[in-house]
Amino acid sequence: MSDNFGSKFIQIQGVEQCFKTAKGPFVALQGIDLNVAKGEFVALIGHSGCGKSTLLNLIAGLTLPTRGSLICANREIAGPGPERAVVFQNHSLLPWLTCFENVYLAVERVFAVSDRVNGRSGESKAQLKARTDAALALVGLTPAAHKRPGEISGGMKQRVGIARALCMEPQVLLLDEPFGALDALTRAKLQDELLAIVAKTQSTVVMVTHDVDEAVLLSDRIVMMTNGPAAKIGEVLHVELTRPRSRVELAESSQYLHYRKAVIDFLYTRQGHVEKLVA
Ligand SMILES: Nc1ncnc2c1ncn2[C@@H]1O[C@H](COP(=O)(O)OP(=O)(O)OP(=O)(O)O)[C@@H](O)[C@H]1O
Ligand SMILES: [Mg+2]
Repeated sequence: MSDNFGSKFIQIQGVEQCFKTAKGPFVALQGIDLNVAKGEFVALIGHSGCGKSTLLNLIAGLTLPTRGSLICANREIAGPGPERAVVFQNHSLLPWLTCFENVYLAVERVFAVSDRVNGRSGESKAQLKARTDAALALVGLTPAAHKRPGEISGGMKQRVGIARALCMEPQVLLLDEPFGALDALTRAKLQDELLAIVAKTQSTVVMVTHDVDEAVLLSDRIVMMTNGPAAKIGEVLHVELTRPRSRVELAESSQYLHYRKAVIDFLYTRQGHVEKLVA
């Protein structure tokens, strides 16, 4: 595939999402315009219920917009695809499969079959197993590989979801509050790992978060959404902190504090109610 998408790897144009509800139509998103460059890390931040997951699901192709268009790599997003892997807000794992099997399923779907577009032949069972083991090791789950979701903690389930997305080597990683259920230390560790992985794979990332520090630490741009209904993009903040980024050094950086304050100002001062925010 040619690499000439420049600043418009993902193009979201005039997108509206209206849901049919028992009380009539509900417009969740309206007039959303956003381009994401190849290799860019974009955070979506906004109050609970403003439409972040709705927008992410549209990019994933899990739902189609009621107005406007979404394009990825010059092709209309018409459904889900292995080049766009999603980590869901509620770690949707198959409960009857082990952690290993949950990840293996995704590996098999992408790498067991030959891919004529990329000139790649289907991989052997041993190669698929090695990919699965590597993804589980990356998120520190090797010892739990043969446990089922019912036998592990919420944070561990979320890590299986992350492994499942990473193992597909997707061009686009779509993350819906992937670290929301984790304790602070595991969260910091996985944020650092995500930074390292993205630096290595050059993936394009769109990540939903409630956490201002997480948004500033990880992103190239923070897209701040207004409250719904009919939520829009209120402001976009370019985070020009040099990479690699170190959370310890950033804690004392005036530039970091400036970005942090800009996001907090938007969320607290201009967009009111804050009950679910972690600032
Ligand atoms: N399938 C649906 N049918 C009707 N309304 C929906 C549907 N999905 C989402 N909504 C509504 O659209 C709005 C946006 O929901 P969404 O889940 O995208 O919010 P969010 O920003 O991800 O919130 P949170 O931070 O709590 O996860 C909410 O008011 C929600 O109730
Ligand atoms: Mg959500």
